[in-house]
Amino acid sequence: MGYFDISILLFPLVIFCYFFHDKNGLPTNWPFFGMIPALLKNIHRIHTYFIEVMEKSHMTFVFEGPWFTNMHILATVDPANIHHVMSKNFGNYPKGSKFNEIFDVLGDGIFNTDSTVWQYHRKMAQSFLSNPKFHQFLIKKTWDKVENGLIPILDHVSKHAIEIDLQDLFARFTFDTICTIVMDHDPISLSIDFPSVPAIKALDDTEEAIFYRHVVPTCVWKFLRWLDVGEENKHRKAWQILDTFIYKYIAMKREELSNGRTPKNKEDTELSTDLLTLYIEQEQNQKVLVDSQGDKFLRDTILNFFIAGRDTTSATLSWFFYLLSTNPQVNSKIKKELDNINVLMNNEKYFREVNSKLVYLHAALCEALRLYPPVVFQAKSPIESDMLPSGHHVDRNSQIIFNLYAMGRMKSLWGEDCYEFKPERWISEQGKIRHEPSYKFLAFNAGPRTCLGKDMAFTQMKLVAATIIQNYVIEAVEEHHVVPSISIILHMKYGFKVRVLRCQ
Ligand code: HEM
Repeated sequence: MGYFDISILLFPLVIFCYFFHDKNGLPTNWPFFGMIPALLKNIHRIHTYFIEVMEKSHMTFVFEGPWFTNMHILATVDPANIHHVMSKNFGNYPKGSKFNEIFDVLGDGIFNTDSTVWQYHRKMAQSFLSNPKFHQFLIKKTWDKVENGLIPILDHVSKHAIEIDLQDLFARFTFDTICTIVMDHDPISLSIDFPSVPAIKALDDTEEAIFYRHVVPTCVWKFLRWLDVGEENKHRKAWQILDTFIYKYIAMKREELSNGRTPKNKEDTELSTDLLTLYIEQEQNQKVLVDSQGDKFLRDTILNFFIAGRDTTSATLSWFFYLLSTNPQVNSKIKKELDNINVLMNNEKYFREVNSKLVYLHAALCEALRLYPPVVFQAKSPIESDMLPSGHHVDRNSQIIFNLYAMGRMKSLWGEDCYEFKPERWISEQGKIRHEPSYKFLAFNAGPRTCLGKDMAFTQMKLVAATIIQNYVIEAVEEHHVVPSISIILHMKYGFKVRVLRCQ
């Protein structure tokens, strides 16, 4: 459908929206249109609008779509409902076939599977992510990237007074580190000339297509996929690029392992190793449950790690530095805390100190995650109809949405000062990190599907934050507007333009 046709359809709807106001700030359910007019009217401020609706509806609201669309979505930020769905009644709320279709590029990876296949993935991922050899590898490679990737670029841009997009810088940092720790291959996207990297573009296009599939009716995106046009065409091409990229490194790793290692190499890998090696080594010990297509199991596993660990960590770092730029007093407190540890010390002791001593920095990162959770929405669908603790009935196969952005800004959950960036709220009277239940602080998910990379993400983020705060001053470019995007990951729509100054 061309632009002209769409505007003919939308014009009366827009007029309708402006002339009819919603009562009490909650969307009106109009005949035929349902609540679409209210959503369209507020689309430019959708995050704020969600907060208002959640506050006014005591944290749970049912959005009704137009007639004949079967659109009936229960949106909730009520921790009791979340606890019920994510933990207590977990078995009734699988990811399901709709999620599976939308995220088809992820194949049979951990994100996209349920029951036995998911359990199998989870057990393996849990054991490898906590393997001491992998932990050593993670520390070594993250430090290498900071020392040989991040610091030279920050020095370069500060010396030449070049403005940079900090969000892009962190996206490159996390892409290089996730590729390295998963496949032992560094694509070196983090370099002074900011090269364009096809695999990064392919991941971005994939995430864009996934978001698009969430907002248009299923029959529409399936038809576009069949026609191979628009977002769907971009998605198919991105999928091919990612397959080629990942399969290449699986083949290289297999060859390297079958050829045996050089003694020096061998010594290294006895102490530290990447995830792909751990997965290949276990193939010999265990029958692989889902692998009927050669390397597809490994391909799915790797791609799922890329999606899990790349944008989530870089988005958090970007929002964290944005919040510091608007709250210099927090920056000063972190700097003071860092005075007690020697940052430029590449050894296990330094990492232990970063992880255990930096309570205020940890609290500030939690606070950034509360205000800007990278995974903004979680969608669930019950197998059997159910009654939520808030008293709302949900039909089988109906849709439930948790909005994490609104959840972090509920006065009833976080107090009147919930819009303020206050790391202090995370620190107990004993000076330790205050525990908040995961169904209230949902950034890392809750229940049996809780994020497996939480510790790893904190280790990386603290290392990057500590290095930057100790050595540089990050100044936001005044005329540059920072606004959240509408996407599956909470990015900054126009990036984050900054100047970098070296501390004296
Ligand atoms: C600040 C950084 C991160 C945040 C906020 C975050 C958040 C999340 C969330 C919300 C989920 C649930 C997604 C869903 O079920 O649809 C999740 C799952 C997961 N995350 Fe993270 N994540 C982060 C970093 C990482 C990293 C670095 C890794 C490791 C590579 C990782 C590995 C995983 C895995 C394997 C799952 C799937 C768990 C399962 O389904 O059983 N995450 N994460």
